[in-house]
Amino acid sequence: MIKNKQGVDRRLFMKGVGATTLFGALGSTKAIAGGLGQTSSMSMSYDLNEEYNRVGFNNFKWDAINAQYAPFKVEIPMGVADMDFRTMPQITAALKERFDHENWGYESPPSDYLDNIIAWNKERYNQVVPKGTIQNCLGVLDGVASILRAFGKPGDKIIMQTPGYSSFFMVMDAEHMHTAQNEMKLVNGRYEIDFDDLEKHIADGARQLILCNPHNPTGNCWTADEMRKMGDICNKNDVLVIADEIHCDFVNNHTKYVPYASLGEEYAMNSITLKSTSKSFNLASFRTAYMFSDNTEYMKKVVDAGHLRFLMNITGTVAANAAYKDGAGYMDDMRSYIDGNSKYLEKTLAEKIPLMKYKVHEGTYLTWIDCNALIDLLGAKKKAADETAYNIENKVMVTDFFGVKSIKHVDTGDWLQTWFVEHAGVNINAGEHYGKGGAGFMRMNLGTTRKKLVKALENIEKAINEI
Ligand SMILES: Cc1ncc(COP(=O)(O)O)c(C=O)c1O
Repeated sequence: MIKNKQGVDRRLFMKGVGATTLFGALGSTKAIAGGLGQTSSMSMSYDLNEEYNRVGFNNFKWDAINAQYAPFKVEIPMGVADMDFRTMPQITAALKERFDHENWGYESPPSDYLDNIIAWNKERYNQVVPKGTIQNCLGVLDGVASILRAFGKPGDKIIMQTPGYSSFFMVMDAEHMHTAQNEMKLVNGRYEIDFDDLEKHIADGARQLILCNPHNPTGNCWTADEMRKMGDICNKNDVLVIADEIHCDFVNNHTKYVPYASLGEEYAMNSITLKSTSKSFNLASFRTAYMFSDNTEYMKKVVDAGHLRFLMNITGTVAANAAYKDGAGYMDDMRSYIDGNSKYLEKTLAEKIPLMKYKVHEGTYLTWIDCNALIDLLGAKKKAADETAYNIENKVMVTDFFGVKSIKHVDTGDWLQTWFVEHAGVNINAGEHYGKGGAGFMRMNLGTTRKKLVKALENIEKAINEI
């Protein structure tokens, strides 16, 4: 069960996030150092302000992006959705303990693994996870793919709200399915679901919907009312709701996460929820996630369709288990830290970089920034179109993740992404990659130290002032 919630982790809190709490949105490096100074006599074993080196370990966020843009240097990468912090010490300790036992024959996950999944969700969100239905996944996308396959067939249309998480498109492609893009409406700075458009996609034959809650990239934490309205439409039309709630542990202070399956029996019975410690505790490379549903028939259907993941890489479940067992205080601190980063970003953009517009978001550590004014100032649309025309004429090729070559098409967002790297040493992601409604926006990842965020924004401000 979850331990240490108020014990060791609360002491650790002070070193990592005391600064955030004490100095709120001030965010200057000096203020953070000052905050730490006040608490430095305490016994602490993590520090969210620590500058932890990630360069040289084959990671996507730092190493791959620098290789991609060489000879330009990406000083602050803020693209790939992982975090730059040193891992929570209890996770490392649990792994070390397992490594001390030098035999790696077949073995089950830790005996309290499922109980800790259940306790985490119950204690933090009052969500009841039915133990017997929990299935392991090799990442959340692995689970999503298995569900799509179990409940559908090649050629099916799958609904997702856009702008939406780019890799959902990849999974649908891999399953030879089509994305039914339910483009959202931006109303007073917050994205809203277009329910009429949703019904059109259903009328057009879509029978599965991927709900992302909290939503990547817009940062929405869907309210109970919004999800009920969506869920009622789905339930009435036999549309399965696949609730990807991987980001649920990141919610900014002014709002809250409502688990989709907690809305009521009819919603729980027509959905499968997926979660993981991979975002919350930055354990993505362990490829360990889980899914569950109140509907045992649904889970049986997924397993019967070939989702056989009873045995997992033991290190992944050891790490995830330690995270859920010991991580409540750490997670609270992390949430406050990201909340502080969000406020710092909002304040700095408003005061110093008004060409980039952002209002503190609700959930995830990802932010979705309106860059339309900057695009206009730079003439980015025309420059991207000219570059694409040149690439077509001169057969300038690009090789994708799977080694497939194609003519290098440059979206406005791609052009702007390159501009940020070349002029500010900062990598943020182009909005076009998130589907309909994404153009004009860039996604910035705040899962990093305040110091790096401060530096990134200083670099961007300078680059823009030099235009
Ligand atoms: C909404 C969402 N789902 C799934 C994933 C990927 O999860 P995994 O690596 O566990 O497959 C991400 C990663 O960014 C994500 O943002």
